[in-house]
Amino acid sequence: MEIAIITGASSGIGRSFAKQLHQSGEVDEFWFIARGKTALDATASELGINAKIITADLSTPAGLASIKDALAQYTPTVQYLIHSAGRGDFGAFDELTEEQISTTIDLNVKATVLLTKMTVPYMPHGGRIITLGSGSCFTPLPYFNTYSSSKVFVLHYTKSLNFELEKYGIRATCFCPGWVDTPLLDGLMNTPNRHPKQFKPKLNVDMVVKKCLAASKKGKTMCVVNWYTKLQHVLFKLVPDRLLTKTWLNMLTE
Ligand SMILES: NC(=O)c1ccc[n+]([C@@H]2O[C@H](COP(=O)([O-])OP(=O)(O)OC[C@H]3O[C@@H](n4cnc5c(N)ncnc54)[C@H](OP(=O)(O)O)[C@@H]3O)[C@@H](O)[C@H]2O)c1
Repeated sequence: MEIAIITGASSGIGRSFAKQLHQSGEVDEFWFIARGKTALDATASELGINAKIITADLSTPAGLASIKDALAQYTPTVQYLIHSAGRGDFGAFDELTEEQISTTIDLNVKATVLLTKMTVPYMPHGGRIITLGSGSCFTPLPYFNTYSSSKVFVLHYTKSLNFELEKYGIRATCFCPGWVDTPLLDGLMNTPNRHPKQFKPKLNVDMVVKKCLAASKKGKTMCVVNWYTKLQHVLFKLVPDRLLTKTWLNMLTE
């Protein structure tokens, strides 16, 4: 029995991955992971399936240990591991609380690395990992620094990981979309801190996830979605950082 493990399956991008993988019929069973049980149950009932629901705070050692225990107990064959749980805050480096900063690094970075390490032994040849980078990997972003830097880590980690995974026939794809229309953006917009005046263009979640799944099947290392983010990616290699960062600063509220 082949399973897909999807963190953050209760909302936004993770929920769309669950929906589209279910429609494709590629896996027999799903493990959905997030903190809130009600929303995870809602994803499963929306799809009409009996997913294994694991409520865990992946920014904590206890949350990660509960996934390790479940893997050891059920010894599943994991066809897909999708790391969609993620968080971030706008704000200056000295305005964000230590808790906000630590939780972002623990969830976006540490959980991605440790969940990958504990899951790969259960993945077959042809298994797929999807990590969540972002368009913010391609420009230094003041006032979104911890978040965007965590995504740079994930991008480099994924690229390096692919070399190490070659011998197992497993591929990892770092998904780097621009702004995607999910509850994450509503939360970011509702903070008093400096943030973009608007999130534009705001991409359709199902459209971007479809592109990422296609890229993952082809074994691509990275999936950059939408013309704006692709342009950012190219400019990052050609234009001095300072210019790109100044454009970003002009887009922020005072
Ligand atoms: N939306 C965008 O514009 C965008 C663009 C580029 C990349 N991304 C990345 O895509 C990923 C998904 O984002 P999204 O837009 O789909 O966000 P979202 O709608 O807010 O979903 C985030 C998911 O992560 C779970 N989660 C949050 N904190 C958690 C924790 N400590 N432990 C376990 N699960 C946790 C949430 O469930 P609970 O709250 O119940 O735990 C939820 O299921 C994130 O990594 C984000 O950085 C988003």
